[in-house]
Amino acid sequence: LALWEMIKFFRDPLVSLQRQVANHGMVSRLDFTLSRSSPQGIVLAIGPEYNQQVLSDSKVFHALSPSPPPDTAAQRLTQGVVYLNGEHHRQQRRLIMPAFHKKEVDGYAEDMIAVTQQLMDRWHPGQRVNMIEEMTVLTMGIVIKTLFGLELDKNGHALGNLLEEWLALSNSILANVVPQNLPYSPARRLVAVSERIEVTVRELLAQKRAQLDESRDVMSMLMKTHDEDGTQMTDAELIGNATLLYLAGHETSANALTWALFLLSQHPKVMADLVDEVEGELHGNPPTIEQLSRLKLLEGVINEALRLFPPLSFISKTVSQPVRVGHYDLSAGESVMISHFLTHRLPDLYPQPNRFMPERWFSIDPSPYEYIPFSAGPRRCIGATFAMMEMKIVLAMLLQRYRFLVIRNAQVQASFLFLLRARQMPIEIQAAGQPVRREAIRGNIVNLVELT
Ligand code: HEM
Repeated sequence: LALWEMIKFFRDPLVSLQRQVANHGMVSRLDFTLSRSSPQGIVLAIGPEYNQQVLSDSKVFHALSPSPPPDTAAQRLTQGVVYLNGEHHRQQRRLIMPAFHKKEVDGYAEDMIAVTQQLMDRWHPGQRVNMIEEMTVLTMGIVIKTLFGLELDKNGHALGNLLEEWLALSNSILANVVPQNLPYSPARRLVAVSERIEVTVRELLAQKRAQLDESRDVMSMLMKTHDEDGTQMTDAELIGNATLLYLAGHETSANALTWALFLLSQHPKVMADLVDEVEGELHGNPPTIEQLSRLKLLEGVINEALRLFPPLSFISKTVSQPVRVGHYDLSAGESVMISHFLTHRLPDLYPQPNRFMPERWFSIDPSPYEYIPFSAGPRRCIGATFAMMEMKIVLAMLLQRYRFLVIRNAQVQASFLFLLRARQMPIEIQAAGQPVRREAIRGNIVNLVELT
């Protein structure tokens, strides 16, 4: 029965979870378990109150740690802040945060503009692309440049490829299932790739150490900062955080940008208004920081895209001590899942929740636990300011030069495993100045957003 429930669930997890809430209310147990530590099934808790309980108390609700083969490079790469708990987490966060303060992030704008310009120069009107791939290359270029000070198409190529391979293997279910001692098993390949990443990042750190004063990238900053008591990051922590920041910093933004372009292409009126706003303010130029703060519709569009399609749609936490969630008494080791996606679709918080209405952001101001694309509390996304600026710059630049049309009858299928994404987003790039129109599309997407 549990297996059957699980198969049914994974045929369309988004619909299954929506149904779970409709049938069982804001807090319930799933009928099957994905984790040995929650033999009775994971508890799903939805809405601002549960978000607050789970996200504000990082002592009780712990981050899940991955379990790569022990004592290997693969395990050492999981030294990044997102996997840590307790004092070690707080200490690493203190060391990382300064590199992501507004002032520092403003300094990355120039790199973001340059990388976006390169992408736009490669495109031409009439070209058909899979937008998720294009946005992934773009955001990879941006993190490789801002994190490491490298150029993706020059010296950053090798590291970019290694990290992509690592990401694919880390997300591979097979890596956790196929025994590690088989030759060519994914787990073995993960260890081998991790070793090469360790060597490459270690070399990069050595080069940076020689010229730390001139460098402004995130890794150089992490190498310079220290705690009040003088503690600095160890090399192992630097390598772990470099890998983690790469992982956390580009696929999320790539998906958010793809969803924003999709939504705009399906809402020609909003697209036209946004183009007017952007052109009126920027007159064909890349934005300055000051100008970005005046683009209110652009901000509404991004907020609304992140509301409807939050790249991280569900997260689970493990409880470290007995705790009551709703009417469930959980013991240490059990898991609880909260949902950004389902919270953002609650009609009490967002009337007509399935409609894309950027203008709603002119009059609403949700609390930190009602709107959680970047999570909230002591583990809130460190890169939120970075990501918001990146998305604004990219959209403001793309829309001044091109229009985007989702191709007629395209199958747009939202799926989520780790991130909420569409594998295919077939888009035709059109010259600016073309009248904005939209075509009919297919796929489960038509159930997830009203395309009237
Ligand atoms: C649209 C883009 C992004 C979204 C939607 C997003 C969302 C999130 C969310 C929901 C979390 C909490 C995860 C959890 O509790 O398990 C998180 C954590 C984190 N994010 Fe982001 N993120 C984005 C971009 C970025 C960028 C660009 C960076 C850095 C370059 C970044 C770095 C981090 C880090 C380091 C954490 C871990 C914080 C901690 O555990 O204390 N993120 N992000």
